[in-house]
Amino acid sequence: MAPAPLRIAPSLLASDFARLAEEVRAVEAAGADWLHLDVMDGHFVPNITFGPALVKAIKRVATKPLDVHLMIAPADAFLAAFAEAGADVITVHPEASPHLHRTLQAIRGLGCKAGVALNPGTPISTVKWVLDSTDLILAMTVNPGFGGQGFIENQLGKIAALRRLIDGSGREIDLEVDGGITARTGPLVREAGANVLVAGTAVFGAPDYAGAIAALKAPLTVAAE
Ligand code: DX5
Ligand code: ZN
Repeated sequence: MAPAPLRIAPSLLASDFARLAEEVRAVEAAGADWLHLDVMDGHFVPNITFGPALVKAIKRVATKPLDVHLMIAPADAFLAAFAEAGADVITVHPEASPHLHRTLQAIRGLGCKAGVALNPGTPISTVKWVLDSTDLILAMTVNPGFGGQGFIENQLGKIAALRRLIDGSGREIDLEVDGGITARTGPLVREAGANVLVAGTAVFGAPDYAGAIAALKAPLTVAAE
């Protein structure tokens, strides 16, 4: 099977909310492949962001797929609202969706791609028996809730193990990494097997969005022997 294409998904959490439409256009012009939208409820995670109304507003100006990361519990009751708002990918945390297989099927039934997010402490075995209903696995490399946190280095082994699990399944499942992705950690997660990189601070905190995205897409250099 052909390797999954590399995609950069800037997280709008780090953008200037007062100029959201402008930020969406700027980051798309700078080379963003997807737009990552972090939905937080102040219950599943200790922070509150936005809901379907804002996703719908972003959809009006966006041309790239909307990658909606739900950090809300329960999630099931809101899936339809996010699908109707224009989500292309909806990702849930298993801790917020106790019947994970049913949730993933519901997401697909709404016409969206279905993603499973694994917290740093959540085992890989959580997704093993739902791979047939999964389009994307999101490996968290920080604890969810805030942008700008430090990358948890020991997750590199988990990313590599997820890549082996996906390749062994023969299925087309994207492996996305979220949290602390920078020009330093981006190549590490790509070498470990990730093909979708979420980056908030590293893109919106940079003076030049195009340069920041290009740095994350730069060819991997072969390590010296
Ligand atoms: C954290 C969110 C991330 C966050 C990443 O809970 O899921 O998507 O926006 O931000 P950075 O790239 O700054 O770590
Ligand atoms: Zn996220």
